[in-house]
Amino acid sequence: MVQINQKITRKVGFVDDGRDYPLYTRYHRNTVQRDLVDQGYYVEVEGNTPKRDGYDTTEGNYAPGDLPVPESDIERLRDDLTTFGYCLVADALSEEQLSMYRARVDEQAAGERRAGVASFASADESGVATNQFLSALVNKGQCLADAVEISSRSIQKAELLDQLMEEVLGRSFICNSASAALAGPGGTPQMLHCGQSMIPKPWPPWPYECFLGFLLDDFTANNGGTLVIPGSHTILSAAGTDPIPELPPTTNVTAPAGTALIMDGRLVHGTGANRSDALRRLIILTFHKPFIRQQEQWMLTLDRDVYASASPKLKERLGFQAWHGGLGGFEGNGEGSVAPLRDDYQSIGVMTPDDHVATSTFAARSKGQYSRRMMGKMKAADKLLTRDDEIPEA
Ligand SMILES: [Fe+2]
Repeated sequence: MVQINQKITRKVGFVDDGRDYPLYTRYHRNTVQRDLVDQGYYVEVEGNTPKRDGYDTTEGNYAPGDLPVPESDIERLRDDLTTFGYCLVADALSEEQLSMYRARVDEQAAGERRAGVASFASADESGVATNQFLSALVNKGQCLADAVEISSRSIQKAELLDQLMEEVLGRSFICNSASAALAGPGGTPQMLHCGQSMIPKPWPPWPYECFLGFLLDDFTANNGGTLVIPGSHTILSAAGTDPIPELPPTTNVTAPAGTALIMDGRLVHGTGANRSDALRRLIILTFHKPFIRQQEQWMLTLDRDVYASASPKLKERLGFQAWHGGLGGFEGNGEGSVAPLRDDYQSIGVMTPDDHVATSTFAARSKGQYSRRMMGKMKAADKLLTRDDEIPEA
């Protein structure tokens, strides 16, 4: 007779901490993210300092010329992606497109702050929020939906970017998240992580996920250009189920505004601390294989008007296309229809500083309460992200 609650007494596998784990639980717990935390790649709440001394200070870690620089040639970009785990696509946005994205992101960010629905991440030594985060970008303006679609309507290097993304992820990849990070002065470095940190080890020698970012400002070491550990993607795959080894040092991505940053989902990275006196803005798109559940639940959150005007390519990229894939349909096996949207969800959508009232969803209300607290602290410390914002009364 089978005892379903019996404990497993025989220790197998790599988790050997004296505890017994039923079935495959030890695999679920064995993630790269746990290893990165064990190695100290995070900021302690007490003291607001990196646990691992200096993981965000990169000067002298690499010689000039050792690392990827912005390129247009696809062969060099492929080389950089496979060797370093990231590449920089030169002039992905034209000057005009860059101005368009800056204006839309700034307006949206100001609107969300003013309406009390903004999200913040990172804080300075006194606990004051410094980095604003916009999510669900596909709902927040045509040019941002175009970015998710990787459309030449708003991105001059769209064809090249689409080609590289498909080579990394395979056919019919979908959008996992679409956000923008506005990193203000005085912030702390983000916990280092990988785009595919949700997937337990072992990782195969290829990524499930891929990052596509558009730099809206020049990225430098001083303003905290994205921290990366070059080559970490292959080291993590090679580690198998073992704890990851000591990794090479970090560097900051440095490139001019308008460049696109592509990162393999296995690359260890994080937001750098901005030591300049100006914002550093980045549009962050992540994509992954179509059989993985998305971080942003577009089936729930996509604005109905955006859905109504979306191209077939954008719908597919958001996951609204039931997918047939893999030999025998084992990766996806739908009927090819487009799923209906939920009626009872309101997204924040496009906002401008003239919008005083946000949508009344539970999500927006709870975010707003959090934000008003943070904004009050920011105001008290004279740390507002722009000079002309007004904080509405609670
Ligand atoms: Fe990230």
